[in-house]
Amino acid sequence: MQSLRLPGAMTPADFLAQYWQKKALMMPAALPEAVSPFTPEELEVLCGDSEIESRLVWSDEGQWHLRPGPFTSGDFARLDGLPWTVLLQDIEKHFPELQAYMKPFDFLPRWRIEDLMISYATPGGGVGPHLDNYDVFLVQLSGHRRWRGDTRGRPSEVTDHAGLRQVEDFRASEEWDVTRGDVLYLPPGLPHWGTASAGESPCLTLSVGLRAPGADEILRAAADILASGPGTMARYTDPDLGVAESVPGLISRASVGRARALLERSSRLDNQELAICFGRLVTEPKPWLTSEPREQVVAAKELHARAEAGIGIKRHPFSLMAWHQADGALDFFVDGDHMKLPDHLLQLVLSFCADDGTLTGAEVATWLEDSLATEVLLHFLSLGKLIFEDE
Ligand code: SIN
Ligand code: CO
Repeated sequence: MQSLRLPGAMTPADFLAQYWQKKALMMPAALPEAVSPFTPEELEVLCGDSEIESRLVWSDEGQWHLRPGPFTSGDFARLDGLPWTVLLQDIEKHFPELQAYMKPFDFLPRWRIEDLMISYATPGGGVGPHLDNYDVFLVQLSGHRRWRGDTRGRPSEVTDHAGLRQVEDFRASEEWDVTRGDVLYLPPGLPHWGTASAGESPCLTLSVGLRAPGADEILRAAADILASGPGTMARYTDPDLGVAESVPGLISRASVGRARALLERSSRLDNQELAICFGRLVTEPKPWLTSEPREQVVAAKELHARAEAGIGIKRHPFSLMAWHQADGALDFFVDGDHMKLPDHLLQLVLSFCADDGTLTGAEVATWLEDSLATEVLLHFLSLGKLIFEDE
């Protein structure tokens, strides 16, 4: 897939500085070669797969409805005459070759991209006026759609009727008519509504959705690390206890102050500890998209033999990998787990974090000369986070 063609002479750095997380940007013909990997009929079939997260949204006399999948063709037939849309989540994990659709967005950190979602909508179909908590790039893959957005930054009232998180009293300040190859960027929290237009080609839209951990998630992750460390062994103490504090039932201000001091002393995370808890958090997979460990652990002999036969290794399409390096320490994160590695394995980590996440048989053979790299490969192969190229 080609790079994103930003409007005019805009560079990715300009986009990040002026629009990213700030303002909507319509990018006409930004991905002119993008085509839909599926026809509407193929998508309807995929909606029958219980492994793929899908949602059907339709409106009937002004009432919005949402139903989670899987669906049968009868479910769509029943909506005959009503506008509807179906949305399929995480398609790049179920069809790894579709990771190519993330390539145009490689000016963003890979861990920030949550998933690719594809939607098909019949004329008039859409999910209604709503806002998302995350940035999104909406790539029109086929047909036409009219997006409307409220870019005025007014506070919005959100109702969670039928799980749709719709915006009450939606009033658009801008309209964007998109056609195949156009890309619309929306920052988090911007109310929007995309409606499929009638036309010869079916309306298919790809959403490149971002992930951003909430403060609550970071707090919980930090608490997990802290609670397992020595800091939380300390207990409340009050060597300065005064007689005035012993009024029946009273929790004195001094005792709350001591509790605060204890909390502050035991909740300090240094940068390295925070990096570990953050890396684990942002590589946490959805529970239903987790690779299974292999039935039998992989032995070094088997790995050598396969590498010599030219069989490479690749990242399992469900595996989320990231790394962090500071003060001479290399932290490798795989599906919410963390492993400390020596610096010289950075190149190995980079190969697995790359878009194709692949090492050729010859590259594997070279790494097998290093005992630590061999251990890492065997470990993640056995866990199913890495798989052989021919699997
Ligand atoms: C859609 O593809 O219809 C929904 C995308 C969105 O508005 O977030
Ligand atoms: Co949206």
